[in-house]
Amino acid sequence: MSYVIGIDLGTSAVKALLVNKQGNVVEETSKEYPLIHEKSGYSEQDPEQWVNQTIAAISELTAKIEDANLIEGISFSGQMHGLVLLDEQAKPLRHAILWNDTRTTAECREIEDRVGIESLHSITKNPALEGFTLPKLLWVKKNEAEIFTKASSFVLPKDYLRYRLTGELHMEYSDAAGTLLLDVADKSWSKQICEKVGIPYALCPPLVASHTKVGIVLPDVAEQCGLAKVDVFAGGADNACGAIGSGILEDGVTLCSTGTSGVVLSYEKEGNKDFGGKVHYFNHGEESAFYTMGVTLAAGYSLSWFKETFAADLSFEDLLNLASESPEGAKGLLFTPYIVGERTPHADADIRGSFIGMHASHTLGDFARAVIEGITFSLNETVEVFRENGKIVDKVISIGGGAKSDLWLQIQADIFNAEVVKLKNEQGPGMGAAMLAAYGLGWFPSLKECANQFVEKSDVFTPSSTNVALYKKIFKLYKDVYPQTKELNKELVSFR
Ligand code: XUL
Repeated sequence: MSYVIGIDLGTSAVKALLVNKQGNVVEETSKEYPLIHEKSGYSEQDPEQWVNQTIAAISELTAKIEDANLIEGISFSGQMHGLVLLDEQAKPLRHAILWNDTRTTAECREIEDRVGIESLHSITKNPALEGFTLPKLLWVKKNEAEIFTKASSFVLPKDYLRYRLTGELHMEYSDAAGTLLLDVADKSWSKQICEKVGIPYALCPPLVASHTKVGIVLPDVAEQCGLAKVDVFAGGADNACGAIGSGILEDGVTLCSTGTSGVVLSYEKEGNKDFGGKVHYFNHGEESAFYTMGVTLAAGYSLSWFKETFAADLSFEDLLNLASESPEGAKGLLFTPYIVGERTPHADADIRGSFIGMHASHTLGDFARAVIEGITFSLNETVEVFRENGKIVDKVISIGGGAKSDLWLQIQADIFNAEVVKLKNEQGPGMGAAMLAAYGLGWFPSLKECANQFVEKSDVFTPSSTNVALYKKIFKLYKDVYPQTKELNKELVSFR
């Protein structure tokens, strides 16, 4: 029996999956690493910890099987947008600045001024957002000039990890699309944007496709990991890999993924549709395909924040049981999940969350239900943008933390007004990474055929017409909270 390894380099942990040719996960391991928040709005990580913890995770996997020679390939999924700035020896010059770091609002405005909003949209297909990589590059250039002058290239988190495993430095299209320096439709670095914002073009690393074999695991690393000779494939952005691992490889199926952040994502054949910058438009991990996506910055994070802050003694299961005792609409309690700012459809780093409609009769269960509903309303704003742009959203594959709860899946079906499908043994982006290795190795003639073998659907949650009608009314109110609290939150900035 042959195996591949799928590595998912997430925001809080790295997860390694050992997958066989039938698509079964035979073993899995996970290793955590901390976030570094030096100041409010800052979010960094030490790249060395990604490397050490990944080696530890792979070693644990290989210790569980008899013959490491059976592992043929390895590939990666990674948290997007994080800036890893490298010197001439490809050593990180500073900690990585992550996707959920919001220090770069001024740099976003600078990019818009220098490039022009229209050119920016037509080249990168995306708006300038704090989380993306280019604003981070400009921030370092402005605030840490000494470091910036030593920079020889930059990569994204999983690209750096892959470099340390292989000695080969690349970036692949699905992650490069989130830098704001890629001409998304043309799949090339944009000289025009580099020139206009003053970033040396030479910093941009060579580009490859997600299933490209970039090398083999270096012998000394292989020894530490307990691996033999293993082919390494480039991999993809976590959201692209989440899409691959859920079989989002054709038009008409939508993905809802609730991890730390939450995304609603839809496959696109063309790279030139216009969504007016309202949603992200990225290259897929499938060659020559694309996807559109909206992001709720604090999805699973809102619920874990709520639990840690107000119900630390309860398990998630207990909290969800309490939530299930609260009726649809949580007795008039409304939550907006803007606890770390928001992306879609309101790109606003200053906005903050709210509970609206609190009453003395509300219980912990009502609050928990309101949090879950609020996160889902936020994701529904992306569903709405998709529908307004002519997309049909009638079937949603749901993955991530939210998909582990039947209550949350039914809330998704009722708020999205669409069938929501759960996957059997869902493994998220790590499975997409394993599939890229399986396809790269030639185990399957296409990713689609690999998905036919690897991805299995299980339960379907159907919207209830009564709940759909109720949630439509509450969603209208939910959308009102942003404009009504925007100015208040701007004024509160100086008190933070
Ligand atoms: C997507 C985004 C997040 C990260 C999480 O644009 O910023 O979903 O990829 O890892």
